[in-house]
Amino acid sequence: MTFRTLDDAHDLAGKTALVRVDFNVPMEDGRITDDTRLRVALPTINRLRDAGAKVALLAHFDRPKGKIVPSMSLRPVVAPLAELLGSPVRFAEDCVGGSAIAAIRDLDAGGVVLLENVRFHAAEEANDTEFAASLAELADIYVNDAFSAAHRAHASTEGVAHHLPAYAGESMRRELEALDAALGNPKKPVIGIVGGAKVSTKLDLLKNLVGKLDRLAIGGGMANTFLFAQGIDIGGSLAERDMAETALEIVAEAERRGCQLLLPVDFVVATEVKPGAAARPVVAGQPLSSDDKILDAGPATVARLLEALTASKTLIWNGPLGVFEVPPFDAATVTVARHAAALAKAGVLVAVGGGGDTVSALHHAGVADDLTFVSTAGGAFLEWMEGKPLPGVEALQR
Ligand code: 3PG
Ligand code: MG
Repeated sequence: MTFRTLDDAHDLAGKTALVRVDFNVPMEDGRITDDTRLRVALPTINRLRDAGAKVALLAHFDRPKGKIVPSMSLRPVVAPLAELLGSPVRFAEDCVGGSAIAAIRDLDAGGVVLLENVRFHAAEEANDTEFAASLAELADIYVNDAFSAAHRAHASTEGVAHHLPAYAGESMRRELEALDAALGNPKKPVIGIVGGAKVSTKLDLLKNLVGKLDRLAIGGGMANTFLFAQGIDIGGSLAERDMAETALEIVAEAERRGCQLLLPVDFVVATEVKPGAAARPVVAGQPLSSDDKILDAGPATVARLLEALTASKTLIWNGPLGVFEVPPFDAATVTVARHAAALAKAGVLVAVGGGGDTVSALHHAGVADDLTFVSTAGGAFLEWMEGKPLPGVEALQR
């Protein structure tokens, strides 16, 4: 896939760039609790400023559903962003019309304005053509740097790209390159690790992956569903027992496509999910009581996974292997994450991870900076793993 990048954008001095960023950051009482998404936008903003462009930042925050919801204003982002940029950031009360036009007009070359939450307009999510055109009126070029919102076909992520010369920003470019290295055009053998609670939310993803990967390790609560389907006692563990048939279909499909499925061969069991709870290792197939819950992968499963990682050239990871928020049930996730990070650092494994919980789990293991790439996207990362085209990315294609 080829898309236009900022390398293709010339003569920007005095021009205005409308830059779609994802500032949908976690916030508590008007304070940003994790500014990662602000930081990833800096290279694009700085590159445009250095080229002498005016930068108008366009973003959504939360889900105001087309109404002005004051608690969902982007205003609290202004000060932290100015601090990170080391220069002032203006704010416009609306993302289209008079206030936006005036704020941009008043900028010097290299100046930055943040436009108010684009989802205050119902026309945004409707991907309304006139609304997209009024966004386009603000600027000379459009830059999309919001991979994590690219699964939405909205006016600010998709529609506007048809009204202006459109380019991928630096963060978007890095995401697309990393994803291509992991699944589009990877070095083989490729291993996937998919964890998390439910099979039902990751069905499309599992079906797509078994057709693309050499090995797929399944962990977390969803592994319980597979074990249950194969007649293995899972006691009172979390599982979607009504998904057993679907799980068996995925097992059969993996076999047909030559993808080796790695399911847990042992696990860590406890009767309560509490920090430091009494936990015991159990080999798959042994009887469990109805109080027993499988909360992590066991040592033999982890050993097999480490071996499989060492034998692979590419890793794509989504979802933890156990209840990593509650030690000791973080052991498998932490051990596997550290091994993957060590291989990536040694340059022998391309390791890409993404999706909400995965990023927290990698931070918990202390290796988020050591993988080859960690995506800041949640839903967009999952849809990409499902093999679905992302409208915001498609719109940037040459
Ligand atoms: C995200 O936080 O995953 C993106 O910003 C998309 O937000 P949305 O799920 O509200 O569209
Ligand atoms: Mg979301």
